[in-house]
Amino acid sequence: MTIAIERAAPKDAYDIDDILTACFPRPAEARLVKQLAIDGDLVLALIARDEDTQAATGMVALSKMHVAIGGDPAPAVALAPLAVLPDYRRTGVAEALVTAAIDEMRQAGALLMFVLGEPGFYTRFGFTPESAEGFDSPYAGPYFMALELQGGLPCGPRGLADHAPAFAALSEDA
Ligand SMILES: CC(C)(COP(=O)(O)OP(=O)(O)OC[C@H]1O[C@@H](n2cnc3c(N)ncnc32)[C@H](O)[C@@H]1OP(=O)(O)O)[C@@H](O)C(=O)NCCC(=O)NCCS
Repeated sequence: MTIAIERAAPKDAYDIDDILTACFPRPAEARLVKQLAIDGDLVLALIARDEDTQAATGMVALSKMHVAIGGDPAPAVALAPLAVLPDYRRTGVAEALVTAAIDEMRQAGALLMFVLGEPGFYTRFGFTPESAEGFDSPYAGPYFMALELQGGLPCGPRGLADHAPAFAALSEDA
């Protein structure tokens, strides 16, 4: 099986919805991505496809964040959600999605990518809790990690790291 990672187009909305509904026990993640799109906060969604069948096998979304360093805004995105259909897991689809997301955001000039997830999985891409430390976020803690996409950060104290408003509903549903 060969997997291709593509930028999701509007026509992929149903595939993304199907993947998220199948991968999470609650509808909150599928709703999150729809709301991010409605609010104009979705920066990029990537979709993984089986090249032979064209079946959608996984997805990742990147959304706008409001982040401040030294009192100045810093371009930053949140990686969430990430999902791969059960039949396609443990073959590197998620890894390919995260790697492609990092490449895209690095080229776009983003400074930071934040994620809330398993350190054992995300540290392999360079995410660290230390890079997220000191930012003011309700998600702060050992699972809150960041990746410095341009190899460093401006000087100055770390301030807000606010996710897009659609994430508030995700916490309410938890
Ligand atoms: C978490 C999730 C996205 C991982 O997807 P995946 O495609 O299976 O991930 P990958 O294959 O890239 O890597 C996962 C593991 O498989 C391993 N793996 C990758 N290729 C492999 C292969 N060819 N053979 C065996 N194992 C392999 C990786 O090393 C990794 O191992 P580890 O994390 O246990 O050390 C998927 O399980 C999922 O959708 N879960 C439900 C939703 C969720 O929890 N999302 C994350 C929070 S937003």
